[in-house]
Parts: sequence; structure tokens; C-alpha cells
Amino acid sequence: MTNKEKSAELVSKYVHVFNCPLCNSPMEVVDLKSLVCLNNHTFDFAKQGYVNLMTRSTNSHYDKKLFEARHKIITESDLYGLLHERISEVINENIEASNNESMIFDAGCGEGSHLNMILDKCKNDAMIGLGLDISKEGILMAAKNYRKLIWFVGDLAKSPLVDQSCQVILNILSPANYKGFKSILAPDGLIVKVVPRPNYLKELREALYDDKGKNSYKNDDTVSLFKHHFHLVDILNISYTEELTQTKLINLVQMSPLAWNTKKEHIDHFTNQGLFNITVDLDILVGVNKQMKGGRG
Ligand SMILES: C[S@@+](CC[C@H](N)C(=O)[O-])C[C@H]1O[C@@H](n2cnc3c(N)ncnc32)[C@H](O)[C@@H]1O
Ligand SMILES: [Zn+2]
Repeated sequence: MTNKEKSAELVSKYVHVFNCPLCNSPMEVVDLKSLVCLNNHTFDFAKQGYVNLMTRSTNSHYDKKLFEARHKIITESDLYGLLHERISEVINENIEASNNESMIFDAGCGEGSHLNMILDKCKNDAMIGLGLDISKEGILMAAKNYRKLIWFVGDLAKSPLVDQSCQVILNILSPANYKGFKSILAPDGLIVKVVPRPNYLKELREALYDDKGKNSYKNDDTVSLFKHHFHLVDILNISYTEELTQTKLINLVQMSPLAWNTKKEHIDHFTNQGLFNITVDLDILVGVNKQMKGGRG
């Protein structure tokens, strides 16, 4: 069986949770080749096993080089180790392990390593990972590296998931579509959104911009908007520094949109420092559906 057929078989097992992003009608897997809706909208499995649900190509700064650098930082350094640990703890504490299949959906998953590493730490074996991102380069990499998960190229604005189908929604450093998230979250499901705090990667920002401090992140508006849509159960703040080698500093620059508009001399100066401490400063917002407010501790 080819990788494409294996992925098609995996998707066919869970096909009832997907609907057509164009007309919302149910889908089926045809000939282990395509996802086809009742109105014949057809989305083919790529040979790497992902499905492209976009009807037009999009131009993105998020290219192959950026995702390769992200992949290296996430999987080969410990920069996000604590983030994965905290998120999996939250999931293990809040979602009862059962034999019933449950979907963990990473909205804006990039190259997929966060989802894969979090899933690895979850105690619930019946959890199925699904990642969606608008960048084909990111999803291509995810599908090559993590074959047991389901990967879609798609737009958060046109979710391919049926209502109440997700036990967990992850939204890590990515844009959100709260209206869509509310519909697809199971009644007792959990949404976990990761947002930067003021000191997130501050060394990188200080080195790449002349105007120190001006570009620091403020996440008050994001938190308010989250609270408007979901009942905020908890905010976990993780703040620490991690020492990175010179190679990893180069990866850090390459993985970040911060470097897109920066002078080369600033980048070289930063990466030539050798070992360097980098600050991770993030908030993990944990939410449930508003009607569940009284139902959870
Ligand atoms: C900063 S990256 C974070 C990626 C990943 N969660 C991580 O932390 O490595 C933001 C991601 O959001 C994706 N994105 C932006 N707009 C999107 C949309 N409308 N639908 C789906 N993904 C989107 C980008 O392609 C990019 O991969
Ligand atoms: Zn359709």
C-alpha cells in the first residue's frame, strides 16, 4: 500500500467528521484517491498523504525554509518542551481517556511538530490528530514526517469539520476563527490557545530591531477576544530561558517572521554570538464552551 493509500484509508475511518469546505455536505473517500462530497466537489490525496482543500493557491511568507527551521527548533532543541508538557497535562486532566475516538485538531499547525509531540504525551490512545494549515509547504512537511496523523491544506475560515466533532482544539501562535471553533468544539471539549507574552523571544527582537521594546507583544486584546467566545478556565504562564547553540540561533532567525524585514548585518551579529540564552514567555489560554461554565471545576 502506498503512503497516499494509507492516508486515504485513515481518513476514510473518520470521514464522518469531515464535510465539504465548499458546500458543507458530507464527504466520502473514493478509490483511496480522493475525498468527494455529495455535490461532487473533489479533493485528491497528494502522494505524501495530505489533502489540499484550497481551491486557489495562496502566497505566503511561510515557506519551506521557514518550516524546516521551525521543525529543527521544535524537535531538536528544548525551546518548546515545557509548552508541550503543560498542554498535554491540561488535556490529560480535562479530557477523560476512553475508547471512544476523539479528535484533537491543531488549527494553523504549521509543519505539525507541536501536534505530534503533544499527542505523544497524551494518555488517550483513542485520540486522533488532525492538522490544518493554509501553507502547503508546512502541511507537506507534516505529512512526510508524521504519517499517522491527518493533514489538510485549508483555510481556517472554511473548516472541513462537522459541528461538535473536536474534543480538543489547539491554536498555537496562529490566527483564530472563534466562530468556527465554537461550532466544531464538542460540548465537553477543550480549546487551548497559545499566545506570546511581552518577553517572548525578546533577545531576537532586540537584536533585529533598532527600536528596543517597541515591538514587544501585548496580548490583552487576544485574551479579551478569547473570553468573549469561550469560558476561560485557566491561563498558564510559562516563562523561562533556554540556551541555544549558534546553529540553533540561525534556525531561530529563519523560523521567525521577525526576520522578514530586518537588515542582514543585524541577523549576522545575532547569530555570530555562539551560545545564547533565549526567552520563552507564553500564555496558554484554556477554554470551554460557555454553556459548560458550571460543569467544570
Ligand atoms: C506563526 S505560524 C505558527 C505555526 C505553528 N502553530 C507553530 O507554532 O509552529 C502561523 C501559522 O498560521 C497559518 N495560517 C495563517 N492564516 C491561516 C488561515 N487562514 N488558515 C489556516 N492557517 C493559517 C500560517 O500558514 C502559519 O503556519
Ligand atoms: Zn461540496
